[in-house]
Amino acid sequence: MTHRTEHTVSVDGSDVRFACSEGDTLLRAALRAGVGLSYECNSGSCGSCRYELLEGEVRDRRPDAPGLTARDRRKHRRLACQSEPLTSCTVRLGAKAESAPHRPLRQTATLREIRPLTHDMSEFVFVTGRPAAFSPGQYAMLLLPEGQVERAYSMSNVGNCYGEWRFVVKRAPGGEATSILFDKLEVGARVVLDGPYGHAYLRRDNPHAVCVGGGSGVGAMISVLLGAAALPDADSRTVHLFLGGRSPADLFRPAALELAQSRLGALHFHTAVSGTSPDGAEALGTGGSPYRGFLHEAVLDVLGDTLTDFTFYAAGPPAMTDALARTLVLEKGLTADQLHFDRFC
Ligand code: FES
Repeated sequence: MTHRTEHTVSVDGSDVRFACSEGDTLLRAALRAGVGLSYECNSGSCGSCRYELLEGEVRDRRPDAPGLTARDRRKHRRLACQSEPLTSCTVRLGAKAESAPHRPLRQTATLREIRPLTHDMSEFVFVTGRPAAFSPGQYAMLLLPEGQVERAYSMSNVGNCYGEWRFVVKRAPGGEATSILFDKLEVGARVVLDGPYGHAYLRRDNPHAVCVGGGSGVGAMISVLLGAAALPDADSRTVHLFLGGRSPADLFRPAALELAQSRLGALHFHTAVSGTSPDGAEALGTGGSPYRGFLHEAVLDVLGDTLTDFTFYAAGPPAMTDALARTLVLEKGLTADQLHFDRFC
């Protein structure tokens, strides 16, 4: 058995210390140790994991990461999700965050099934030897064998003791990771699955939820829907599920709707298309044509004055989640604790 070198990371101004294995990032090591840190994307894009290195040496996985501004670089700030400690370190962290309910674990996963959903979306089903422990709405990092490419994908099921991890993935034009998933990976292939991560998971306090998903973010919203339907008080809960795409061909009716419908007090399924193609609405079974326009506009139009009654979950392209967050907070006055988004760029 090989042992990886471990370095100790000490947090300035506190007695918090945690071990970081060689090759692991400062962010992931902190979360594995149960230390709550601010973060979202885990891939260098959003900037929410900024910190200062006071002592020690780290390797930067992505020196040109867009999550750091020129000002950050002048002030010698770094990204915890991109820093691999090479020695023991002392760090000054940015905002602390609540600890997530599950500590991330790095393990091997085997591809068991691929289920096509649309012309460019499929559900990939992986299995691990241990239970799949995560909260509805969280994501995992998949390290794909060819080219050692790593990407974040949200789970589209709920935690389970069978070790089953489902991911709805939309093919990205020219995308390295999705071309491996769609074109090269075969049933039986093994990947490294590291997770769960993410703060945009289902909260129980408000029985009224809105789930807004586009692209590969659709899976996270299906997971939140299934999570709400599995709660003991599901029959007193209301969920609005909004899915969006450029045309009706980009949309599908999630199989989870039937199960959720039978358990929730009320479930409303809405679709929106931002392009101009007219066909395909009937196949979704929404009882009407998809909304014509952007997803955040559909949310505003459908919910109207009742918007503030809900807790919002969203996942998808940054333009969609940013537009929704801007509208809800700046125009409609929702508070930060009513919104749960993880930004992926
Ligand atoms: Fe590190 Fe997004 S840049 S979590």
